[in-house]
Amino acid sequence: MEANAPAAVIVLAAGAGTRMKSAKPKILHEIGGKSMVGHALAAAAELNPQRLVAVVRHERDRVVEHLLNIHPDLSIADQDEIPGTGRAVQVGLEALDADASGTVVVTYGDVPLLTGEQLGQLVATHEADGNAVTVLTARLDDPTGYGRIVRNDDGSVAGIVEHKDATEAQRALTEVNSGIYAFDADVLRTALQSVTTDNAQGEMYLTDVLSIAREAGGRVAAVVTQDRWQVEGANDRVQLAALGKELNRRTLTQWMRAGVTIVDPESTWIDVEVALSNDVTIKPGTQLHGATAIGTDAVIGPDTTLTNVHVGQGATVKRSDVTDSTIGAGASVGPFAYVRPGTELGPEAKIGAFYETKNAKIGRGAKLSHLGYSGDSEIGEFTNIGCGNITANYDGENKHRTVIGSHVRTASNTVFVAPVTVGDGAYTGAGAVVRKNVPAGALALSVAPQRNSEGWTQAKRPDSDSARAAAAAQTHDS
Ligand code: UD1
Ligand code: CA
Repeated sequence: MEANAPAAVIVLAAGAGTRMKSAKPKILHEIGGKSMVGHALAAAAELNPQRLVAVVRHERDRVVEHLLNIHPDLSIADQDEIPGTGRAVQVGLEALDADASGTVVVTYGDVPLLTGEQLGQLVATHEADGNAVTVLTARLDDPTGYGRIVRNDDGSVAGIVEHKDATEAQRALTEVNSGIYAFDADVLRTALQSVTTDNAQGEMYLTDVLSIAREAGGRVAAVVTQDRWQVEGANDRVQLAALGKELNRRTLTQWMRAGVTIVDPESTWIDVEVALSNDVTIKPGTQLHGATAIGTDAVIGPDTTLTNVHVGQGATVKRSDVTDSTIGAGASVGPFAYVRPGTELGPEAKIGAFYETKNAKIGRGAKLSHLGYSGDSEIGEFTNIGCGNITANYDGENKHRTVIGSHVRTASNTVFVAPVTVGDGAYTGAGAVVRKNVPAGALALSVAPQRNSEGWTQAKRPDSDSARAAAAAQTHDS
């Protein structure tokens, strides 16, 4: 069943979420690299509604800024001091044209695993059956706290009773209200006019609309989902973690089905916006965040964190931390590399053990194999940077660039005091401190020639093991 585009989706996001015990509004807490309300908006947007409305109140400005960042076309409706989901939807409706008709969907900002597909099924059933109201429900082992679905003897939906208002018999009902509905706009608008705050919580309950619509002769029905995660909200951080874990499990399952090898799903975390190609291998202890994209045959991990990283075909990244960077096809990173923003590692190039890079453009086949730092730098094709090389890019006030040509060979412990350039095919000597530009093909030496002071140990450390070893060596040699 293909759903028509609804007139509107209203996302309720005015609540305080006090059980998160957070300075941050509840719906801004993240799972899978996206805020809860970001997930809610993504699901809502999949319906292509004519209008998408968010109802806000708690931390209004901060929430609105976040929402408009995600969805600039969103309409904002401000809830007033009248509390309750019924009032929230009423102000949401006021953001629509006064004569808006057709289907209005209501969802919550804190139900992050709800999918557009599930919403589509709800809308399709609602419209196919000509319902006035269709509520998404689930049967839970522990329905405590939820509104219960009360059914008539013939199985039709009579209404919803809130936990706090329910009788003992009603509390024994296990079918719960998810808080997600499809409404006929006219029915909703009219019914909300008769909703009062006369209940245990002194709130305008949206749930009252069901019995009001039914009494007015409308068809009220439920779509029961078998997938309880789709209707689960996060009220505290324990639930947030459980939802995050389940979302991750679903994301990983989808990638494995698409041809990605994930050696240990238990220790692998992949954000929802990450893109993987088939035959990527992810080893244990790996986290892929943000807009990371990985090419086919790449091997990532173990123990690797990538945030907004593009990894080319067949590259490997092992026990490393990489952020806002590009890794070329066939390149290798790690183990134990710290690759900071602005690193562009060329194809077949290498950043090896205990190397840190930042804002470094590294050419095809170039190697920075061991123990060093390269920042604000450019390194040409097939250049080999020796062990322990450092770009001294910071003079205490400003950052400066180091530009090294192609096919350069730098010896161990070379320091490049930026700004400085090294021409193609140049060499440096061990321990060189390169303060002046090096022309193409030159060897740069800056360390004073070595001088040996013969017999120094026996003269200055006469009773030491070193002196005895030296004496023994001399006997042996003579
Ligand atoms: C509500 C339902 C309950 C359902 C449960 C599912 C009502 C009266 N009850 O209860 O039947 O089982 O959700 O989770 O609708 N909100 C506003 N403005 C408000 C109050 C709430 O925007 O004035 C938003 C909240 O931010 C939240 C959602 O509505 O996203 C639900 O609010 P909450 O207070 O959690 O409702 P429950 O009491 O859990
Ligand atoms: Ca709730």
